[in-house]
Amino acid sequence: AKVHSHQFVIQATPVKRLCKTHNTITVNGQYPGPTLEVNNGDTLEIKVVNKARYNLTIHWHGVRQMRTAWADGPEFVTQCPIRPGGSYTYRFTIQGQEGTLWWHAHSSWLRATVYGGLIIRPKEGDSYPFPKPNRESLLLLGEWWDANPIDVVREATRTGAAPNVSDTFTINGQPGDLLKCSGKDTTVVPVNFGETNLLRIVNSALNQQLFFTIANHKLTVVGADASYVKPFTTSVLMLGPGQTTDVLIAADQPPAKYYIAARAYASAQGAPFDNTTTTAILEYKNIPCPPKGCASVKPILPPLPAYNDTATSTTFSKSFRSPRKVLVPTDIDESLYFAVGLGLQNCPSRARARNCQGPNGTRFAASMNNASFVLPSNFSLLQAYKQGIPGVFTTDFPAAPPVKFDYTGNVSRSLWQPVKTTKLYKLKYEARVQIVLQGTSIFTAENHPIHLHGYDFYIIAEGFGNFNPKTDKAKFNLVDPPLRNTASVPVGGWSVIRFVADNPGVWLLHCHLDVHITWGLAMAFIVEDGVGELQKLEAPPADLPVC
Ligand code: C2O
Repeated sequence: AKVHSHQFVIQATPVKRLCKTHNTITVNGQYPGPTLEVNNGDTLEIKVVNKARYNLTIHWHGVRQMRTAWADGPEFVTQCPIRPGGSYTYRFTIQGQEGTLWWHAHSSWLRATVYGGLIIRPKEGDSYPFPKPNRESLLLLGEWWDANPIDVVREATRTGAAPNVSDTFTINGQPGDLLKCSGKDTTVVPVNFGETNLLRIVNSALNQQLFFTIANHKLTVVGADASYVKPFTTSVLMLGPGQTTDVLIAADQPPAKYYIAARAYASAQGAPFDNTTTTAILEYKNIPCPPKGCASVKPILPPLPAYNDTATSTTFSKSFRSPRKVLVPTDIDESLYFAVGLGLQNCPSRARARNCQGPNGTRFAASMNNASFVLPSNFSLLQAYKQGIPGVFTTDFPAAPPVKFDYTGNVSRSLWQPVKTTKLYKLKYEARVQIVLQGTSIFTAENHPIHLHGYDFYIIAEGFGNFNPKTDKAKFNLVDPPLRNTASVPVGGWSVIRFVADNPGVWLLHCHLDVHITWGLAMAFIVEDGVGELQKLEAPPADLPVC
């Protein structure tokens, strides 16, 4: 196994998109940032040097970080931010994960532009569980604001209203030639006729689930979130922010140019959404161009599902299986039920005009079990836990919602006004955990991509309506459910996940729509150390930033 050392310099760089230039926070001047390529079993050492004027951390999304929670990255959860002028070296080893992950800033909305891919190939000497592709390409789906994203979220936090939606989606940082001033920089994915291509697709967008398709080509899904899946064929993918999907495509069509396209799956009922279509071009290279030259060939635009096509999204997510029988945890020790969704906070009347510009003079909020998560500002949760610092958090996060009602009804807000707290839930080492993630419909029902740090989990079932503990058990797949790090909880529905708490530390569970984490749709687990030396969290690195 190798050790890969890199330096990430965070700095403002002029980036021009949609005809305008913005001073953009980037890594090493690149947007999107550098791609990390490793093999399963390798170690990464990434020195992050902050030359920007914002506090910042980097999170290695989906990396299990076994016993190395100090390198996980979420600001004020596992570390204090790297201050302007400061640096921190993240050191961690990839253990047992193969496929595609990614990394992103985990401070405010900086991940809008500070992100990149993490490609994990099989252990040296091992091969893919499918025929070796001739070529591999990484496609990072993102969002671009014709503004500074930090200003967008600050404005929303100040007013209590919903933030502005982005101005375009992007593929590898490019809107594509359907958008203004974007033609010549459109991302091109080269293929050769007769060859097989592995595409690694990441939804790095801030606030939108995305449909993804390629004109005239079938997509064979072989992996997701750095785990292999039982291959299945589809024409459309749906990815929630945080999720990755690896697909094989055969370049078997009449040689030409074909659009690769992505657009929002905006499940929120009646909420505004960004309906731009971003494109890249799949281009056959090993063929002679027509007489007028290759530039004259117009790509074929594929149909994409409508923004509210929940049926297509559901069919896709229900197609996932592990490649073989897996050991799903049974004899559950911790049976948890988390109601996840939006809420609204009433405002004292004098504040109403300025700070309460949400629906009917309220402020938007979001919660799990009515607890709207607030990060500490003087310590990281992990540091406070390990050093026994009192007053930073409590450990009384409720195992079930405080009141029961029809979560799929658009209930009155008087029933459910989130309370701002920093509540954690303690898990014993190796506890077998089941969580029912139940979407609520307080203000609006929508799909929530729920991400757990430090773990992969099995998604053993999902469905619509209220989860029924008696009858829905029959739907559990305890044979070959998929292993993921982000679950798309269906709009007005639920997902059930299981994992074994074998990685000590403090681990954030949150909605990966950044607007929802801004509003508090998060909680964190403390996983205690085990007894054996190899069952304990390692000591913090000497250069860990302090607050
Ligand atoms: Cu990809 Cu807490 O994030």
